[in-house]
Amino acid sequence: MSVWALIMAAGSGARMGLGHNKVLAPLAGMPVLARSAAAFNGLVDGKIIVTRAEDMEAVRAMLPSETVVRGGKTRQQSVLRGLEALPARAEIVLVHDAARPLVTRRVIERCIASARAHGSGVAGVPVKDTIKRVDSHGAVWETPPRAALRAAQTPQAFGVVTLRAAIEALEARGEIATDDAAAIEASGGTVYMVEGAETNLKLTTPEDLRMAEWMLGDGPRGRVGHGYDAHRLVAGRPLILCGVTIPYEKGLLGYSDADVATHALMDALLGAAALGDIGCLFPDNDPAYKGISSMLLLRKVARLLREKGFSIGNADVTIVAQRPKLSPYRDAMVRAVAAALTIPPAAVNIKATTTEGLGFEGEGLGICAFAVSMIHKCP
Ligand code: CTP
Ligand code: MG
Repeated sequence: MSVWALIMAAGSGARMGLGHNKVLAPLAGMPVLARSAAAFNGLVDGKIIVTRAEDMEAVRAMLPSETVVRGGKTRQQSVLRGLEALPARAEIVLVHDAARPLVTRRVIERCIASARAHGSGVAGVPVKDTIKRVDSHGAVWETPPRAALRAAQTPQAFGVVTLRAAIEALEARGEIATDDAAAIEASGGTVYMVEGAETNLKLTTPEDLRMAEWMLGDGPRGRVGHGYDAHRLVAGRPLILCGVTIPYEKGLLGYSDADVATHALMDALLGAAALGDIGCLFPDNDPAYKGISSMLLLRKVARLLREKGFSIGNADVTIVAQRPKLSPYRDAMVRAVAAALTIPPAAVNIKATTTEGLGFEGEGLGICAFAVSMIHKCP
């Protein structure tokens, strides 16, 4: 049986708000329409792309080896234009919205197999929300049993002749079905649903485009940052590391509380987000920061990252100090940092090392700290 695909791209994408047809927009380096069309490669005998008159040139340039035809005012009319353009040998047609570029080969194969066996195969997924039917005042009229409900997606596969007759009959009556399956239902035919995919998103609003980018791996990829800081040890100052005051004969010298470990950590976080460093965020000639607790600044950094759309994955800090012994304070430091970043303690690691007497740390002149952190861009 000759199987063909109609890729529906004749909308205007008004809700996407790009000012042009959303299917021409790039998605992780490839236009939405090109992705949707490519999903059918090797699975069908041919494709027809249905688009608007004003997008014909751009679509032909994007997909030079495909047949491109003009759509109609409504999606239903666009489908009819596509069906009319199919070669006479086409027996099964898969109608697919170009706005669903994440469709998988398995979903397409299930639609084709069902159409071969039963005359139709429409991708759908069980609904997770309880669906209510309401009247015009919002009063609930009924709650259909959820187990029997499906959300219809595309592709939707049918016999070419059957679908064309069903849509022509609707057009003749001036009626519009919400999807191709509904056209078949209106003609008295039986429609079979197959398992679609939750990931088979329909790109409707800008959030959908961002979600699709994220799902294709251009979003969830982690970003790593590194930080380093060193301060001099002097008499007459408290020793504060990761927000914990540690009993010792000396403390670190600095404009703020000189919490060297927290400074390294802030630089790691800012580095991961490409937001510069603590020097540009909290200048050390600003009286506001004289003697300030670095944990307060760490909270500010965490808030800034969240405002920029990042979530903090983990943090790992190494403190280099010959003395004092820091392991008794490790748990308290982890808890303080985790609380400031509002991440679980299991996502924070703090360790200390000596340098066996080598260098300024080894000679007890100062303490330094290194930190790395992984953050993620939220979808
Ligand atoms: N479509 C079409 N012909 C139309 C209208 C829509 O081929 N006259 C296509 C769209 O290009 C899209 C699919 O049908 O791939 C599903 O429609 P929808 O998601 O509503 O897209 P648009 O109509 O483009 O978007 P909007 O409704 O926000 O304007
Ligand atoms: Mg529309």
